[in-house]
Amino acid sequence: MTSPIELPQVRILRRKLVSVPAARHFVVDVLKDWGTVSMLDDAALVVTELVNNALRHTRTPNVRVIVRRMPSDAIRLIVIDKHPELWPALQSAGPLNSGGRGLALVDAVTKAWGCTRLPWEKHVWADLEVPDA
Ligand SMILES: Nc1ncnc2c1ncn2[C@@H]1O[C@H](COP(=O)(O)OP(=O)(O)O)[C@@H](O)[C@H]1O
Ligand SMILES: [Mg+2]
Repeated sequence: MTSPIELPQVRILRRKLVSVPAARHFVVDVLKDWGTVSMLDDAALVVTELVNNALRHTRTPNVRVIVRRMPSDAIRLIVIDKHPELWPALQSAGPLNSGGRGLALVDAVTKAWGCTRLPWEKHVWADLEVPDA
């Protein structure tokens, strides 16, 4: 059962590269508070890739990060930017490509991920299974 103490946690970060480690520390701290540490490394990887993407591929003035405990017991990480017209696209990076692997990593360590478009922003979300839930 989800404890009532596990309310969604939100952090708004500025358009700065230091926001990437800040987002990672935020997520790790929330999950430690909730006692859901079995997937800490995967959660840190996912939020790193998603915040990096928001900063590198959009001109969003800020990034909103939300950590939610889902009714299914999964942990949902949501990274929000202000550019709904630009869409994340899983790529098949070749051996000579320097990038294009971030979403493939997210896909590999999550049970589901996706993107929800609103008129003024988009939410890139990823669900991590909590093995001992
Ligand atoms: N938040 C985002 N906003 C707009 N485009 C995105 C976003 N995230 C990912 N993308 C698009 O999806 C592509 C694949 O992302 P990714 O696999 O992380 O590779 P990389 O970031 O190295 O290009 C990016 O090149 C970009 O075109
Ligand atoms: Mg990327």
